[in-house]
Amino acid sequence: APIKPPELNKCGEARDVASGDLLDVNCCPPLTDTIIDYKLPNFTKLRVRPPAHKVNKEYLAKFEEAIRRMKALDKSDPTDPRGFMQQANIHCAYCNGAYDQVGYPNIDIQVHESWLFFPFHRWYLYFYERILGELIDDPTFALPFWNWDNPKGMQMPKIFDTESSPLYNKNRNQANRPPTLIDLGFSGASDDLQVVVNNLTIMYSEMIRSVNSTLDFMGQPYIAGQLPRPGMGSSERGSHIAAHVFVGDPRNKYSEDMGNFYSAGRDTLFYSHHANVDRMWSIWKTLKTDVPKEINNPDYLNASFLFYDEKKRLVRVKVADSLDYKKMGYEYEKVDIPWLNYKP
Ligand code: C2O
Repeated sequence: APIKPPELNKCGEARDVASGDLLDVNCCPPLTDTIIDYKLPNFTKLRVRPPAHKVNKEYLAKFEEAIRRMKALDKSDPTDPRGFMQQANIHCAYCNGAYDQVGYPNIDIQVHESWLFFPFHRWYLYFYERILGELIDDPTFALPFWNWDNPKGMQMPKIFDTESSPLYNKNRNQANRPPTLIDLGFSGASDDLQVVVNNLTIMYSEMIRSVNSTLDFMGQPYIAGQLPRPGMGSSERGSHIAAHVFVGDPRNKYSEDMGNFYSAGRDTLFYSHHANVDRMWSIWKTLKTDVPKEINNPDYLNASFLFYDEKKRLVRVKVADSLDYKKMGYEYEKVDIPWLNYKP
């Protein structure tokens, strides 16, 4: 059977996944009686997610205003599920053991290290983006993506590094602020050109060369009653983790914010990082390789999650409805993909 959505009224303590330490946070969402089965709404225009290093002033002003309003909700109504901390806590609740699987009180729900990784984060960003759009009354608002797979995007995007901006977060590795290049393979190379070459090689490898089956890319099956974390796909294990580690602050005990599940969503950069992870899923699906790009197992397709939408309604969403992002109303601005032919 598929993983069922959590029972919010049974949300409990959160623990650090690596050490098992109890965390001093309450990441449980507000409760609501009614759960609505979510139907993808109609739309007239796709939201187009731009690369973060290329956005213009006008876009940046809108994005900053939306984040400012989302953060303001934390103060004006901390129980508003659209507030920034509430949004960050979604990641904590689904990733740090706050929820047990329905019917299995000793088995956690965990959305990493399995085939739920891509669909869960796609839905998470989907609602986060819609909430931001709602807060500035712009139904076309689209999140920027951190284009770390392109040499021009291999630094933390500058828009996140301006100290006066609501996008700024001080809990980041100070040594890795721009213009330091991300090193997707932890190669330790000191020469920038070498880092770029290594990064492109890693992208080629995790998207193409080392992917011999659908699950190699997507992650391993995870169904009801099964212990969490059966195995990561190549993208989650590679570039995805590398960017978390690159941004996470080594001065903090659990490398907060980006370096730990419970706190990662407190960094505005998290959502742009994951937009690029999501973009990798969408690009992978278009590759002309022999590996089938869809998982047809009903235990995958019917797995479901709960989120609050932009109108504060609690909705139940299914993996099956996340497979075609254009039906969800967004797409990615086209940019060069230099690793595509980067055979080492
Ligand atoms: Cu849910 Cu990048 O982590």
